[in-house]
Amino acid sequence: MIRSLQYVALTCPDMNEGKKFYDAMGLEGRKDGEHLVYRCAGRAQDQLRLVPGEKKGIAWIAWGTRAGEIEILAKNLDKAGVPMAAAPGGVENNGLWFRDPDGVLVNIIVAEPQPQTRAAVEINNPGTEYLRKGRRGAPNRNIDTRPRKLGHILKFTTDINRDAKFYTEVLGMKLSDRIGDELAAFLRCGGDSDHHTLAMATSEAPGLHHMSWEMGNVDQLQMCAERLLKAGYQDGWGMGRHIYGSNYFHYIRDPWMGLNEFFWDIDFIPEDAHWEVEKAEANEESLFQWATSPPPEDFLKNYEAVAA
Ligand SMILES: [Fe+2]
Repeated sequence: MIRSLQYVALTCPDMNEGKKFYDAMGLEGRKDGEHLVYRCAGRAQDQLRLVPGEKKGIAWIAWGTRAGEIEILAKNLDKAGVPMAAAPGGVENNGLWFRDPDGVLVNIIVAEPQPQTRAAVEINNPGTEYLRKGRRGAPNRNIDTRPRKLGHILKFTTDINRDAKFYTEVLGMKLSDRIGDELAAFLRCGGDSDHHTLAMATSEAPGLHHMSWEMGNVDQLQMCAERLLKAGYQDGWGMGRHIYGSNYFHYIRDPWMGLNEFFWDIDFIPEDAHWEVEKAEANEESLFQWATSPPPEDFLKNYEAVAA
């Protein structure tokens, strides 16, 4: 089964603009041939690979599994009639390469999710537990506001039921919740997992709606978003709190109108937890519990399809 989200590879029409944006976000980049590879500070795991390309879009998505399970996944794919694909140029040809039902290239490798080594932020919980006693808690403006982890992605799919069936039945992910029959589905990794590592929304074409970056607390979340706004990047939506996943969010658009979500405090579901799947009404209210504004009209617009 799929056990972790490793990284996302994106085609990028202007590598300098891409570098400027992800540097401003606070990721740590390095060159790998023609590609730019990004990690979160304090975490020894690639999270993003920019590949030169004509337009912005998913090049491939890399997931992690365990050594004993990759053969099972290979058998499942074979049984489902999914042919293996060639690895793209410029990357190591390891693990399984294939296309999902939407035609999105997927790579599954044997890899453990790496820990974040930067210290967790101390949270005060008035009424239950005071961790910060006898001192002020408001953060300085120069605190570390760099993302800690790529937590999940939301991809557009032309058939959400077909895609969800593939990722659960063939690749061992689990359905956590959904919004309507067609609007959105939230899937988590097999094993212990955040509420969703792969979310899907219906669209006229495949594409990437957002990548979501975990922050250390709500200050970091908002201050990272504000830093990008001050640098001239466009607001996406937020801040607010979702219902499915429960996380606080603020979305900022990249130079090609793709969204990057900064999140904190997402639901975590242990492997042995009893979790009832909830199906919400397919309406705007199901997208959020509260927010500083309602979602903008283009929040669920597939800019990659428009640009096609
Ligand atoms: Fe998200």
